[in-house]
Amino acid sequence: MPEDKRLQIVTLISGGGSNLQALIDAQRQGLPIRIAAVISNRADALGLERARRHGIPAEILSHGDYPDRNAYDADLKCLIDRYDPGLVILAGFMRILTPEFVTHYHGRMLNIHPSLLPKFRGLHTHQRALDTGETRHGASVHFVTAELDGGPVVLQAEVPVLPQDDNARLAARVLEQEHRIYPTVVGWFAEGRLRLGEDGRPWLDGEPIEKPFFIK
Ligand code: GAR
Repeated sequence: MPEDKRLQIVTLISGGGSNLQALIDAQRQGLPIRIAAVISNRADALGLERARRHGIPAEILSHGDYPDRNAYDADLKCLIDRYDPGLVILAGFMRILTPEFVTHYHGRMLNIHPSLLPKFRGLHTHQRALDTGETRHGASVHFVTAELDGGPVVLQAEVPVLPQDDNARLAARVLEQEHRIYPTVVGWFAEGRLRLGEDGRPWLDGEPIEKPFFIK
């Protein structure tokens, strides 16, 4: 059998897994990735079912079984590394990560965040965008660093905030864009076009990304 040259990926989730589904679809359409495993910190995450349906190992590592964050992240690291991934993808993984964990995956861990970073780090991004009267909102894909939602951004997508929007409507509009930008960035990484430079900036096709790329 020919050697599988695709990028091995482990995806971490906590919930619905629609971003995971976008990556599964992209893999099926020929993106050079292989999702080797999906790991959830919640046993009831719907995304686990999506993984199983596509024959991807679906692992549960419940944070409630651990005394503290360090102990959990240490076991999570062991579980991930059993699959020897070239890239770890946070796809709605709703946990703060320890610095040791983040350092271990430096340059090979991506996150998607539902705001136009650096605006609205943390939780409840859509409601906060509505509450502050933003006219534009969106999502960002970034390399993960020790600073929460603070790592260098690679690609963003923007949506308008409409007068009749509520939290659910705005979230759905942003999510649709997430499903475009996450497979795009993962594809760049898998093709060897994207890396995190020693200068802390993302580099694409041999050039530093000074300002995040942006699609409307
Ligand atoms: C997505 O909107 C993602 O950006 C967000 O959780 C949702 C997961 O949806 N992530 C964060 O807020 C991380 N700070 P999904 O489970 O359907 O992919």
